[in-house]
Amino acid sequence: MNTEKQPIYPIEVWDITEQEFQKENNYRNETTFALSNGYIGTRGTFEEAYPFDIDTGLEGNFVNGFYESEHIRYGEANFGSPLLSQSLLNLPNLKETRVILDGEEFSMEEGSVESYKRTLHMKEGVLERTLVWCSPKGKKTKIKVNRLVSFARKNIMIIRYEVTPLNYNGSVEFVSKLCADVENHTRKTNPIVDYGPFGRRLEKKNLWVKEDGLYYEGETIGSHLTMACGSVHTILSEGEVIEASWRSEIGDLEASISCTLDGREEEAITLEKFVCYSTQLDMPKEKLETFVTQELTRARQEGYSYLEERQKEYMERFWKIADVRIKGNEALQQGIHFNLFHIIQSAGRDGRTGMGAKGLSGEGYEGHYFWDTEMYVLPVLVYTEPEAARHLLDYRYSTLEQARGRARILGHEKGALYPWRTINGEEASTYYPLGTAQYHINGDIAYALSLYLQVTGDVEYLKEKGAEMLIETARVWADVGSFAECKGGKYCICDVTGPDEYNVLVDNNFYTNLMARENLRDAVDAVEYLEKHAPKCLEALEEKLEFSREETLLWKEIIEKMYFPYDEKRQVYPMDDGFMMRKPWDENKIPPEKRAWLYENYHPLFIMRHRMSKQADAILGMYLHSNLFTKEEIKRNYDFYQEVTLHHSSLSTCIFGIVACSIGYLKEGYEYFSQSARMDLDDYHNNFYAGIHAANMAGTWQAIVNGFAGVRCQQSELRFEPSIPEEWEEYAFRLRFRGTLLEIEISKKEAKFTVIEGTKIQFLVGEKEIILQGEGETYVEEL
Ligand code: BGC
Repeated sequence: MNTEKQPIYPIEVWDITEQEFQKENNYRNETTFALSNGYIGTRGTFEEAYPFDIDTGLEGNFVNGFYESEHIRYGEANFGSPLLSQSLLNLPNLKETRVILDGEEFSMEEGSVESYKRTLHMKEGVLERTLVWCSPKGKKTKIKVNRLVSFARKNIMIIRYEVTPLNYNGSVEFVSKLCADVENHTRKTNPIVDYGPFGRRLEKKNLWVKEDGLYYEGETIGSHLTMACGSVHTILSEGEVIEASWRSEIGDLEASISCTLDGREEEAITLEKFVCYSTQLDMPKEKLETFVTQELTRARQEGYSYLEERQKEYMERFWKIADVRIKGNEALQQGIHFNLFHIIQSAGRDGRTGMGAKGLSGEGYEGHYFWDTEMYVLPVLVYTEPEAARHLLDYRYSTLEQARGRARILGHEKGALYPWRTINGEEASTYYPLGTAQYHINGDIAYALSLYLQVTGDVEYLKEKGAEMLIETARVWADVGSFAECKGGKYCICDVTGPDEYNVLVDNNFYTNLMARENLRDAVDAVEYLEKHAPKCLEALEEKLEFSREETLLWKEIIEKMYFPYDEKRQVYPMDDGFMMRKPWDENKIPPEKRAWLYENYHPLFIMRHRMSKQADAILGMYLHSNLFTKEEIKRNYDFYQEVTLHHSSLSTCIFGIVACSIGYLKEGYEYFSQSARMDLDDYHNNFYAGIHAANMAGTWQAIVNGFAGVRCQQSELRFEPSIPEEWEEYAFRLRFRGTLLEIEISKKEAKFTVIEGTKIQFLVGEKEIILQGEGETYVEEL
């Protein structure tokens, strides 16, 4: 386990505050203060645009789903290796705003900063920086900058820059820039996880300045996608809009507008800058210019204050349902808010985009979507923002065709194989042992879909999209393995990599076989449901997919005969067929500085030949399908994996925490939970600069709800096994189940369930069946 660190920021329940600007913390803080709305993502860089070097900062502006491709160069390529990369492209920057105060340009690196505070207001979804700057010549100015990426207007980001001279009358000049000379720079870190294109990848197609507006349009060199962005500006004096006369400058890849105003002591002058991004992924490229201009005009008419109000309303609605309240522990409360805030702001919401492992907060992992979305994030959204969960599933549905193509490349005549890493739906992982071999992604997507269907009861979705996804993923499982004579005719799946990336290309990975079996079971259930309730829909699928109901006979046989590795002596499920034969791991032989970075310091074969594990694997399967195992079984396996797991992935500790709670190891569960709750906020992995760890952030919510409160939804039954850590007095959260909003408050004495909105709801507390008829009704279980 990692060691907990001291809090980096002051403990405040709803805010994250940087109290002092320090260059050495800048890179990390840019991620902390990154803002997004699932579409636009922008790093927490400063308007002054400091020329930080590669180790101290990265300007970053992204649009979800907008990527650049390059031909991937392999030393030894094999058939089926992806040929084109996909990297979330770092886009032109429009945040840059220079302020010249009575002839001196504001910079925190010159003069002195007398009071400084940068706060992320998580309750409101607004970033704010306030400071008093004393110029080298002794002029003092109060500066207040607010920034938001709008949830109400997906294409809009706004900066409100307020300047108040404190001890002088003099000119105030705003220079607002558009800088299109940008490039990605992820390659500086781990070569396995950071590939990314070199150099500037956008070719300018249009750049103009008009009055107070800037516009740029460019096309990527490799992926041939066009993006557009622009800004418009308003000046206010003491809160009232005033006319300003703008000067402009235009270069090859840069343009700026500026205006100079008379500053008076104690009078605030404000620049409101409205920024818009859009891309060809949303509309024909010919329409981009009109769209951007219109969106900007509308945003400016609405104004900053109006859009800030909409932002607050959005966040209020979100927190009303998603908040988890912990009485008496503000540090954890802050960590949970931080995690949930980044989750909600990172998830794609248009059904065309997914969610990167790093959200839209940085270039790490090239902005790729992994299984992190389905196994970690989606379960949170399913209970709190089901619509957002559906949009993420829609994205997977929209890429089924690419997944079918991938399955053919892998030799499967039927079905679909989802990519391990992707943006556009094509496989983008370059190292198949850690990439394509992770076939479990198919089972993960099917699991998330099935959880969505169970929790929401959205049968229309099953008919429209869900059944097709279940059938197509199941078909690959029915083709990838064989009934092996040497294993008594059981169905075996060889040469796959499970979630654990230190044991690769293994035979019969326990997690994979389990998820495959359940994927097949869900597909059988879907076909039978349609047969009974929507035969027309099934017929349409039969035609579209050239699918025959007969296929389910084979699926049923596989379900019955799925093989699972078992160690009779220890009575546990080893991770795969070879796991117990591998060499025991001796951590003492590894120098401490290399321990957390095995792939950087050791050959993959050295790692793979040892009996140890990077992250939760079999244990994760047992959590997801806990109804299929006895508590005793889970306990034995937990004890076993507890010994051999190194938790070198941020996706691990939250899962161990959940399983620990389910077998009564509450203390251990709490320790694991503590590792996950503030992992990013306190930068436990020392790599937060590259972006958030979205999976762990969502895993924290799961550790509370599915861990301490023991929530499971299996076979369409909602169940609770409430417990409370010794360290807590009380905690509470809300869940939406089949449209009804339920509040759960758990103290040392009791667990109280109250219907907040909606009608009848049925659930289990332990083995006890509870039915609440509607709003205001309560059930109390003594603990
Ligand atoms: C983990 C994967 C995860 C990826 C992206 C890797 O280190 O092993 O499970 O999907 O990071 O978060």
